[in-house]
Amino acid sequence: MIEKLEEIKKHALDDINECSDEVALNNVKSKYVGKKSVFNEIMAGMSSLSNDEKREVGSKSNEVRNLITEALDNRLKTIKEEELNKKLNNDKIDITLPSRKRKKGTYHPLTLVRQEMEDLFISMGYDVVDGPEVETDKYCFEMLNLPKDHPARDAQDSFYITDEILLRTQTSAVQIRSMLANTEKKPFKLICPGKTYRRDDDDTTHSHEFSQIEGLVVGENISLSDLKGTLEIFAKKMFGENRELRFRSSYFPFTEPSYEVDVSCFKCNGKGCNICKGTGWIEILGSGMVHPKVLENCGFDSKKYQGFAFGAGIERIACLKYGVSVRDFFTNDYRFLKNFDRKEL
Ligand code: DAH
Repeated sequence: MIEKLEEIKKHALDDINECSDEVALNNVKSKYVGKKSVFNEIMAGMSSLSNDEKREVGSKSNEVRNLITEALDNRLKTIKEEELNKKLNNDKIDITLPSRKRKKGTYHPLTLVRQEMEDLFISMGYDVVDGPEVETDKYCFEMLNLPKDHPARDAQDSFYITDEILLRTQTSAVQIRSMLANTEKKPFKLICPGKTYRRDDDDTTHSHEFSQIEGLVVGENISLSDLKGTLEIFAKKMFGENRELRFRSSYFPFTEPSYEVDVSCFKCNGKGCNICKGTGWIEILGSGMVHPKVLENCGFDSKKYQGFAFGAGIERIACLKYGVSVRDFFTNDYRFLKNFDRKEL
């Protein structure tokens, strides 16, 4: 039996060495170490042996089986290495081939302008807040000192969903929301950029859907000079260091006094051109000192606190900055948008 085992060992090692792929190796494996392997015969013959012989044959049988298993493992490793090398030799990659250009997504120009404004106000300690586009009449108008029959409502022709719910016509609604949410009635500074809607006919300068940025500062000893200083920093950041501001008296129900603010034309420097329609000035926003009634409506003591507020159209600022028309922002023409792309590498 010992000789038989020696023979099995020799045959097995020869068979293993002859295998050149995994399938052949698996066949050899089941022949020698599988369930119906040649070792079964040896095991069957063991019963007729003496105890000493059993021990000798048993240990030889284990030794041969281990040797075969080891040889199978080694051969498998070699076969896999050979296959990998073959693959590496055949699948050569030409690293000098120029890659295909992938089109990257770009920020929309309105997003770029919004981010620039947000960064500026954040650097001055403002919070950036958000509010719903579907708003109540109460927050969008009534608490802003525009009761139902107020004539100023006509200027903001609205999309009503029910009698009391509408698409907000102005981000000023967020003034009310943020003052009500401020339960401790502490001073604060915030801006709110967001979408607004009015029943306008769309043309080169109007769109029924547009965006505004609202600013609101409430605190003690806040005066008109704070508003002026803040808007000056804002205009210079957006349109250039040499810009001047002009405050024109105006009327908004939620501010008193109220101003419309013009910036000196950045194209002609005040001489008059097509951008400023010959006036030298371009209107950029509405603003004023928060009306005491609005403060009181929201639980702020108007004897102790004052506030200033402003609201600007983001499209308008972007149109002026990039010299494009409002419609360009909504058609999403790739040829237009790609002008705002990061550099292609
Ligand atoms: N909400 C106004 C509008 O849409 C703009 C505005 C004017 C906002 C004066 C303000 C403000 O906060 O103080 O026309």
